[in-house]
Amino acid sequence: MTHTDSVAEHYAPGALLKRISGGCAALNLTPPIDPDALAPVDEFHIGGRFATVPFMAALGLTSKDRVLDLGCGLGGPARYVAANTGAQVTGIDLTQEFVDTAQALTEWTGLEDRIDLIQGSILDLPLEAGTMDAAYMIHVGMNIADKTGLAREAARVLKPGGVFAIYDVMQVGMGDITFPVPWASSAEQSALASPDHYRSALTEAGFEITQQIDRTDFAKQFFADIAAAQRAAKGPPPLGLHLVMGDTTATKLRNMVENVRSGRISPIEIHARKRSA
Ligand SMILES: C[S@@+](CC[C@H](N)C(=O)[O-])C[C@H]1O[C@@H](n2cnc3c(N)ncnc32)[C@H](O)[C@@H]1O
Repeated sequence: MTHTDSVAEHYAPGALLKRISGGCAALNLTPPIDPDALAPVDEFHIGGRFATVPFMAALGLTSKDRVLDLGCGLGGPARYVAANTGAQVTGIDLTQEFVDTAQALTEWTGLEDRIDLIQGSILDLPLEAGTMDAAYMIHVGMNIADKTGLAREAARVLKPGGVFAIYDVMQVGMGDITFPVPWASSAEQSALASPDHYRSALTEAGFEITQQIDRTDFAKQFFADIAAAQRAAKGPPPLGLHLVMGDTTATKLRNMVENVRSGRISPIEIHARKRSA
């Protein structure tokens, strides 16, 4: 099995749309659905929507922009951008089931005119050079060893001066992490790298770094809030990431929280701009 097949297999849970439909039915949600109502299940990263809002604000997107979502997953961030800025978003993801589910959710929200979804690898984008105003990647680089390759592809499709923002889990301390985690069942699917490694890859690909933001404190507060909500609730909510991560959800989350608490990994944003010449 290739690395990409193994990563896609890790993510594809099977019958995902059916489970999300069931969750929506339990909440009496029928199309047209407000994209915000899907946020508990379609924002697959630390902090969910609470992380997406400030991250996207920093990009300064407008309705004139063409925006690329690298590793779009179920399309939550893409729908947030399309609904809140009016930008035209192209999302690309390796996992066919995620792309199919993202397409259905996009149609349920009535945003299909503003969002194009493609199955493929972000290391080989099926897009023309110099066509995008902005690109972002949320919790995807942890599956991709070739950081320079992904930065080069982002640089290729961006216009000069275009922004590229990354929000990934990065390696910040020594020691192996404990698996499974939300992005990998085992070490073979994981490709964690330090912020310095990301910065070098971006610089080599023609970007200048504009900002780096450590989201560790935010993540710890988020984990504490989630734990408190779970203790107060009688069971999982109708819509939640357990529908995506399956039977091992609790173990994956426990390991991720412990890996963050132990100082081995941290969620970090790096914002960059493609150099004009
Ligand atoms: C943790 S999910 C994050 C999804 C989405 N960005 C979000 O924040 O909701 C990671 C995603 O990266 C995708 N992915 C991993 N490697 C990829 C690659 N080489 N090309 C495209 N997508 C990839 C996976 O299929 C998965 O959907």
